[in-house]
Amino acid sequence: MDPVVQQIKDRINIADVVGTYVTLRRAGKSLVGRCPFHKERTPSFHVSPERGTYKCFGCGEGGDVFSFIQKMDGTDFPTVLKQLAEKAGVKLENRKFKTATPEEKEKEERLRDVCEATVAFFEAELKKRKDVLDYLHTRGVKDETITHWRLGYAPAVWESLVQHLVAAGHKKDDIVDAGFAVRSEKKQGEIFDRFRGRIMFPIFDLAGQPIAVSGRFFEKVPGAKDDTEPAKYVNSPETVLFKKSRTLYGLHAARGAIRKLDCILLVEGQFDLILSHQSGLPFAVAISGTALTEEHLMLLGRLSKRLVLALDADEAGIRAGLKSTLMALREGFEVKVPLLTGGKDPADLARENPELLKAAIRTAKPAVEYFLDVLRPRARDAGAYTKLVQMLILPLVRATTSSIEREQLVHLVAGRLMVSESAILHELAKIKDTQNQGGAEFGSSEVHQSGGESVLTPVQKKAGMLLSKFGRESVIGEKIAALLSAEDLQTLETALLGHEEEMRFKFDSEIGEHSEEMIAQEMLAELERHIGKTRFKMKFL
Ligand code: CTP
Ligand code: MN
Repeated sequence: MDPVVQQIKDRINIADVVGTYVTLRRAGKSLVGRCPFHKERTPSFHVSPERGTYKCFGCGEGGDVFSFIQKMDGTDFPTVLKQLAEKAGVKLENRKFKTATPEEKEKEERLRDVCEATVAFFEAELKKRKDVLDYLHTRGVKDETITHWRLGYAPAVWESLVQHLVAAGHKKDDIVDAGFAVRSEKKQGEIFDRFRGRIMFPIFDLAGQPIAVSGRFFEKVPGAKDDTEPAKYVNSPETVLFKKSRTLYGLHAARGAIRKLDCILLVEGQFDLILSHQSGLPFAVAISGTALTEEHLMLLGRLSKRLVLALDADEAGIRAGLKSTLMALREGFEVKVPLLTGGKDPADLARENPELLKAAIRTAKPAVEYFLDVLRPRARDAGAYTKLVQMLILPLVRATTSSIEREQLVHLVAGRLMVSESAILHELAKIKDTQNQGGAEFGSSEVHQSGGESVLTPVQKKAGMLLSKFGRESVIGEKIAALLSAEDLQTLETALLGHEEEMRFKFDSEIGEHSEEMIAQEMLAELERHIGKTRFKMKFL
């Protein structure tokens, strides 16, 4: 639960709050009264101060102090949150999401304008640079691909973008807050370009609006003194608009195809992505520089549960792949991995011959089979191989949800290790279903550290789970309201997206005309209406 919400609940006695609306009398540990949500003569409305909840055994209404006030007063969660925070003496500052104030909304709009102006500027700069265009062409990138993905170029100087944006009337603070400029440490009030001498890939939100960028190194700023090796890629920092753990490069363009073809191709880099699309694989998305998160999977799982992971075949790629595979299997995905020959990435294959890439994707093997194959030559001897399989592959088998598939995998693994299936089953039973197994201790401690660390807050998880039961649970409205107040709109939008066909349609058809927030609110209202209907039906059945 959101710590602030928890704090408020800890400090406020729900019985005091309910008691201002309903006459309550003690009954053991709880209090009872006549339900304010339906007409009744004998009290069946129970309040538990201990648990901070209420429940009517007559009409089924139930929830916590937040949902109680919301329902009684007909207000929204943020309003109640403010009200109760004040009552509890809890500060709401520094929260990721309060109610978006008009100032915050304006700020967000300004940052969006800065993003758009920046991307347009980089696009125009690229047109002036034949050498950069030539490089892109040698990488196999066609002109229409450059246009489609709005690729650009950040000149190798300190203040080109900044000057352009300031001249166009943008505020320096906004340019910094949008992530495109950095404040000078030497000169107070001065800012300079974050991206210099780089090929720019705009990163879009689900509506196709730019919210961030990623820049690939092309050239140094002439005359720069420092001769440290520049980072190959520099990405936007997290901003109000850009949250890395829930952004997938290319998703806005791929989601239609993912849904239609019921398949996701997950690649690593920007070049992999644009060249996959160019090669006729429109269901590709890229994680681009961050680890795959549960949030990413939640986002994708709404569209399809069939995942093809196109990984680098090096050790880092295998390690990351094992971890991603485990996470995805646990979320119920079917995971396949293509064999990309000669240590090539999808971008290399696509440049060589798009058909090679397509063929590799078509013939992708089930993840367990893939890892059995790639680990074999990396193991010193048969004993070491057995160990690796036990440590890294059995958790994948265990995480496979389909029992038919699991049995096939047991058969496969037993065959590879030349042991009986019962031995494998025996080992499988020993694996604890904790979040931290798998991927561990393979070559480096890195995997271990980041292993299984969930990026989702408990609130988000809960909301996601409840949402998947949508239509059966009447408490869903409150949970989503909790999500709305505790997290931000993109999370809500993401969580809602794809749960109801009509909402999906709404989202698809109205995006662009309205702000994301409006759509999120509309979807919320839609949900509430739906819940109202369900309740109505239940009562009269
Ligand atoms: N990446 C990053 N920061 C880095 C290096 C890589 O964010 N310093 C991300 C980028 O999204 C990159 C991906 O990780 O595309 C894969 O990295 P790598 O294989 O090194 O880059 P390529 O995509 O192969 O880049 P290129 O083909 O341009 O050499
Ligand atoms: Mn590459």
